[in-house]
This record gives sequence, C-alpha cells and structure tokens, in this order.
Amino acid sequence: MKEENPVLFVIFGGSGDLAHRKLYPALFQLFQKGQLDQHFAVIGTARRPWTHEYFRETVQSNLHEGTAEQQAAFAAHFYYQSHDVQDAAHYVILKKLIDTLDQKYQLQGNRIFYMAMAPALFGTIAQYLRSEDLLSHDGFSRLIIEKPFGHDYASAKELNDAIVSTFDRDQVFRIDHYLGKEMVQALPYLRFANQMINASWNHEYIDNVQITLAESLGVEERGGYYETAGALRDMVQNHIMQVIAMLTFPEPETLCDQTIEAAREQVFTHLHQLSEDEVKAKFVRGQYGPSADGQQIGYRQEEKINPQSNVETFVAGELELDLPQWQGVPFYVRTGKRLLEKKTRIDIVFKKATSNLFGGESLAAPVLTIEVEPESGFIFSINGKQVGTGTQAVLHSLKYQLTDADQQLVPDAYERLLLEVVRGHQSNFVQWQDMAGAWHFVDKIRQAWEECDCPDFPNYTSGSMGPKAADDLLAKTGRHWIYQG
Ligand SMILES: NC(=O)c1ccc[n+]([C@@H]2O[C@H](COP(=O)([O-])OP(=O)(O)OC[C@H]3O[C@@H](n4cnc5c(N)ncnc54)[C@H](OP(=O)(O)O)[C@@H]3O)[C@@H](O)[C@H]2O)c1
Repeated sequence: MKEENPVLFVIFGGSGDLAHRKLYPALFQLFQKGQLDQHFAVIGTARRPWTHEYFRETVQSNLHEGTAEQQAAFAAHFYYQSHDVQDAAHYVILKKLIDTLDQKYQLQGNRIFYMAMAPALFGTIAQYLRSEDLLSHDGFSRLIIEKPFGHDYASAKELNDAIVSTFDRDQVFRIDHYLGKEMVQALPYLRFANQMINASWNHEYIDNVQITLAESLGVEERGGYYETAGALRDMVQNHIMQVIAMLTFPEPETLCDQTIEAAREQVFTHLHQLSEDEVKAKFVRGQYGPSADGQQIGYRQEEKINPQSNVETFVAGELELDLPQWQGVPFYVRTGKRLLEKKTRIDIVFKKATSNLFGGESLAAPVLTIEVEPESGFIFSINGKQVGTGTQAVLHSLKYQLTDADQQLVPDAYERLLLEVVRGHQSNFVQWQDMAGAWHFVDKIRQAWEECDCPDFPNYTSGSMGPKAADDLLAKTGRHWIYQG
C-alpha cells in the first residue's frame, strides 16, 4: 500500500551545497517511491534573492535520475524565500508562505525544519521559530540538525541548550549519516538474529575490533571548515563513535525508540575516558604530505589552509569500554584523508583456538569483516582444512555481498534518515547524552595533544594508509591492522 506523508520541509541554507547535493536528491527518491506524493512542499531559504523558478531550476539540475517530467513534477513543489535568519521580520514573511502552502497542499500542519547552514545560527533560528509562531499548532514540528554539533563539549552543550529551550527532546533529530548506511543498519540483525554470534560477541571470544573509515580525497574545497575541525572532530567524535555504539550496545528488549536509545546510551556512558598518558600511548595523529609521484599536493599546500597548519587529517587510536561484556577488548579505530582508497569496514578479530591438533602450528585468528562501503557485505574468515593430502589448517572465506540488484534497493543514507524523520522515528538519530559522552572523550584527546610539542607534520604520504605510528600502535601488542589496503 502506498505511504503518503503530508509534510512541509523548510530548509534553512536552501541554496547551499548540502541541500543541493544531498537533500534534494534524497527527497526526489522519496517522491519517486511515492513516500512523498501530492501532499508535500519544500521551502528553501537563504539570503540571496532567488525566484521560485530559478530555485526549481537549481534543484532540477542536481537530480541525476528520473525523466525530465518526473523531475519537473517534483520541482513544482519547491518554493524559495529570501530570508536572513537573524532578521525577525523575515520570519513573518516566511510564516505567511508556510500557511499558504499548508493550505494549498493540505499538509495537516506537519513541518520539518532542516538546519543546513552554519551551526552558530541554529540557536537563533530555533528561538525565532517559536517567538514568531512558526511552529505547528495542529500537526508536528521537527527539527533536523547537521554536524558539526559544536567543536567541544562546552560549545555543543551551549548549542543544545539553545535548541532544547525551544524544541522538546522528541522533536530534535541530530543527523549522523553513518547511521543511515545499509551495513551499519544491518549490525543489530547480524548480532541479535544469530544466537551463535550473539553468544560470542564479548571479551571471551573477541580479541579486538578494528574500524577503518578511510577517505581517498583530501580536504577539497572545504579547507576553511577543516582547519577549525580536524579528523578527530570531523570523524571520530561522531561517525566512529556511532559505529562503535551500533557494534556494542546491549541487546534491547524491544526495537522501540526508547529502548534502543537507552541501550546506546549505555555505550557512551561507559566509554573509558583516557588520561593524558593514555592519550600519548594510545592515540596517534597524522597529516598528509604530497603523494610519492608528486601528483597530489600535501595538506599544507591546499586552498584556505595555513602553510604551517598542525591540523590532523588522520587519527588512529585504541579505546575501551568499561562494560563487563567488553572488558579488556581494544577497539582500534582509524580514519584519514588521502588514504589509499575510500573504504569503510569493520573487522571483528576473534581469539585464536588453542587446539594443537593440527600439527602444532599456531592457528590463525578468525575474522568477521563487515564491509560498509564501497562494497557492502560480510566476509567470515574461518579455519578449515587445507585442500589436499596435507594436515594443515588454513583460513577459508565465507563471503556474502550485496548484488547489483540488492544495491538498487538500498536507499541513500539521507533518503533513509529523512523518511525516518517524516515518520517520527528517533532510534537512528544521535541523542544528546551520546553526543555529550563522545565529546568528553575526544576533548580529553584534544587537550592532551594541545599540551604536547608540535607534531612532526606532514607524516604520511598521500595515497598510503597513514603514518607508521598507526601500525606501531597495534604492533606493540603483537597485533596488526587486518585491512592493509
Ligand atoms: N556540504 C556537505 O556535504 C555537508 C556535510 C555534512 C555537514 N554539513 C554542514 O551543513 C551545513 C551547511 O553546509 P553547506 O556545505 O551546505 O554550506 P554552504 O554551501 O556554505 O551553504 C550555507 C547556506 O547558508 C545560507 N546562509 C548563510 N548565512 C545565512 C543567513 N544569515 N541567513 C540565511 N541564510 C544564510 C547560504 O546562503 P546565502 O549566502 O544566500 O545566505 C547557504 O544557502 C554546515 O554546517 C556544514 O558543516 C555539510
């Protein structure tokens, strides 16, 4: 049966990159699937004086699927309002347009406000939405917020306080698009739908967990932002932490929002907070230099980057959870720009069997790999008999990969998450407690780094897998990165 969701989207920053590259194509997918149909409208707002027609053209020019007729039918639901978010009078004009569209498309008062602009303005927008009476009286009002949500715990809290003074907890949706990825969504199924895996998902069976979020691109045109962020804030505080939470949250009794939120909160409240000495021993940072063939420039030569910049473009580290189930299991994480290839994967390294039945040779550790992107699937490497007359045990791979047909069914992360907001489902969004825990964790690392001498940057070549120190981190315990590139 067709699912129709009457709703108005108001996009603050409607002329920007995020809106055009991610949000409008995602809404188009929902339109193509009938999840948005006749009863929806989108208002894009920004300061520049665009017309509705010009706005629709820009929206259409960013759609790379569907026929021209389908694109035009979709774009006809788009309206543009020139609006400075700091000017109260502009909200009065915006309200009139909202009310008109609510009537025209019979939207039942349902409104989603998307903050696709600088976070410094989120609090101002939230407050004006209430004071100028733009929130719905008869439908729902929901607010979507993008990263970066603050640059440390204190600024994130200030931002959160400004938002929750206007919106209730269940009205706020903090997006982390990693939570919308198919294979990240698949983790609870892998864990809880297989008793064999569920029973072994703990320190008795797992030796270590490795998470790699590698990017092949450099900072591109986002140098200005990156100089204020760095890899720790840009990737570890949010995406890596969310992946860890999906891997480790205790089995909830139900799949309802509240029980999943409570389970995930367990992880964030039990992140082992590192001392300064532990940071030195367990976290390394890097910055890319030019590629070996000289084709790629180094970070310090990129546009809008300080030529002496000490901002890290790579982080690797070891963290632990103070939960009985995970006692003593290191979680090795690694992320960076300009690495060998774009790759997101998780390697669960199981303990080696102690049996000496097979020629006394030391057996390899079984590994369950979850490939998130660009490939999507699982690889389970387990010991078996070497084929032939020998007696050795060797690793065999059991492999499941999404087929091309499966991939066609996978929604883009933004498409999935926008639909979740329309439906009012909170479980794939970041709760404030989780964010607070993650900020406390990375603030400790940042503070310890600020106390140290300047790092010796650049310390890895573009196109490599990062600095040698990241390999040493594991080597000192006799381990190695399963994924070598
Ligand atoms: N781009 C991405 O892929 C991406 C991914 C994740 C998170 N984000 C985050 O999402 C946010 C938006 O990013 P973006 O890349 O889309 O930035 P962007 O291209 O610079 O867009 C910013 C938007 O805000 C509008 N704006 C700025 N000041 C305004 C004001 N006072 N009143 C009304 N509108 C104003 C701009 O239009 P006018 O200049 O015409 O006002 C523009 O539409 C940022 O916080 C970014 O960190 C972006």
